[in-house]
Amino acid sequence: MTTVAHAIEWPSEKHLQAFSSSSPKLLKALYGSNDSTPPVWLMRQAGRYMASYRALRERYPFLALCKRPELAAAVTMMPIEQLDVDAAILFSDILLLLEPLAVGLSFDEGRGPLLASPLERPEAIDRFPQKLPLEEFAFVTEAIQMTKAALDRPLIGFAGAPFTLASYLIEGKTARHLPMTKRWVIQQPAAFRLLLDQLTDYVIDYLSMQAEAGADLLQLFDSWTEQLSPAHFSTFCEPCLKRICSAMKAKGIPLILFCRATASHLDALIRIGPSAISSDWMGDLATLRQRIPSSIALQGNMEPAWLYADRSVIEQQAAQMAHSMRSQPNYIANLGHGIPPDVEIDAVRAFVDGVRS
Ligand code: CP3
Repeated sequence: MTTVAHAIEWPSEKHLQAFSSSSPKLLKALYGSNDSTPPVWLMRQAGRYMASYRALRERYPFLALCKRPELAAAVTMMPIEQLDVDAAILFSDILLLLEPLAVGLSFDEGRGPLLASPLERPEAIDRFPQKLPLEEFAFVTEAIQMTKAALDRPLIGFAGAPFTLASYLIEGKTARHLPMTKRWVIQQPAAFRLLLDQLTDYVIDYLSMQAEAGADLLQLFDSWTEQLSPAHFSTFCEPCLKRICSAMKAKGIPLILFCRATASHLDALIRIGPSAISSDWMGDLATLRQRIPSSIALQGNMEPAWLYADRSVIEQQAAQMAHSMRSQPNYIANLGHGIPPDVEIDAVRAFVDGVRS
């Protein structure tokens, strides 16, 4: 019960006072007071579907783009310049947070992320530092500061959620069905909880660092929760996500929570009480809106595959989605997941145009 009360306290008097009618649309929607077309941005809005990004990638490996602040800031700005979306999201990756754990992170051309030394036994977490060495992330702080200097709208910082990070630590790569992670869940639940608690501490420090560097809001990605039953989600993810949300709320920075299988986990997501819930495309927005208290904004959720359709179809889909949320002061238009790397930039423009039409 306390959790629902918690959700209703947001936004607090203090936050409302700091907020004015000239605030950017995205912040207005997060605070439940947007009275015009919804703000729009897209997950993975900076990436390989852009010719300008591909050109940079011919000269630099992915990790170099993330770690050189001037390059990360330039990539972060590309969707602002080319799509005029309502927010920028820092160009980086959720897996960078794992680097101080000496897991040997690399991004193999065309094969995605790879950890040379994944976690083989629960005891191995004993060698993890108690606190995330934030000094190793000076490049994140600098990229945020450089971006903010060039940006006239909100900047979104982000982190992976503890469960998704744990699944990469254990599997060592993207592994759709998470076979080894599930063994931990079933065979070593206490050790798995310890791992998640440790990652939660890291995520709180990492997000706080981004907020202090100038990020205006944050998004948490729990990309692999579609593999969890509602009971396991409540046991393992809910306490961690609640701790992160409460910590960011105490700092007064809005946080959007993206969990796959949004509709299945919705009761827990509401109890967690983020500023906004970002939905995958499996749920119907209007139905979700009815179930979610008005103190929590809603983001999403066009299926990314629609970006392979003709321009007019994409525009129509996006317009329909926005129309279904018309008169909702706390709606943020987005996809249900990231932009696929092989769509045309005009398809993405059609989405933005459709939302604003
Ligand atoms: O959204 C943005 O524009 C900001 C940047 C961003 C990236 N990754 C850049 C990236 C964000 C927010 C992420 C989050 C991320 N990374 C998630 C959570 C969101 C989701 O997609 O569910 C996850 C699971 C990862 C891990 C990751 N990083 C994978 C699985 C891959 C390979 C998949 C692929 O598309 O190749 C990456 C690499 C990655 N992260 C790329 C980009 C632009 C492609 C790198 C390249 O240029 O080759």
